[in-house]
Amino acid sequence: MKLDSLETLYVKELRDLYNAEHQILKALPKMAKAASSPNLQKGFQEHLQQTQGQVERLDQIFTELGKSPKGKKCEAMEGLLKEGAELLEADAEPSVLDAALIAAAQRVEHYEIAGYGCVRTYAKLLGHGEATQLLQQTLDEEKRTDEKLTELAMGSINTEAIEPETAPETKPKVQKTARGTSSRETRP
Ligand SMILES: [Fe+2]
Repeated sequence: MKLDSLETLYVKELRDLYNAEHQILKALPKMAKAASSPNLQKGFQEHLQQTQGQVERLDQIFTELGKSPKGKKCEAMEGLLKEGAELLEADAEPSVLDAALIAAAQRVEHYEIAGYGCVRTYAKLLGHGEATQLLQQTLDEEKRTDEKLTELAMGSINTEAIEPETAPETKPKVQKTARGTSSRETRP
């Protein structure tokens, strides 16, 4: 694709985001499953639903443009998610894994914030009013998700990871219950 105008760049960037969102749709259930904190699990599940809505907005924009949403693989998102997937294979303490999952998720959010900020601005410059609004909605959701992840990390997840319960002879090992909560979280 020859980048001969802002309109062409706009379509290319939209396709990149469309592909990125589909990769995120596949990754989020695995991240939710791997998280120990119930609040983090809930956060990932909520963002999965939000991401489905974001894909629908992109579908709507492509329909109005009369273009196919496919044709561009987002290599950057593939790399970010690959690094996230490596965490799931690591021998990690549950609290440290939660902190690492937040760090991985925030990298994803920042990529999306940059991408949606650009296409929102291009849509505005090109006079696509409805698309500008739709992309602004998604941008606001991504920013809010990033803030929520910071709140979770700063709330307790990062501090719990400072001293993970690695010495079962002196401290009870974190036990996962059927609901995914840990024994530590239910202690007074
Ligand atoms: Fe997204």
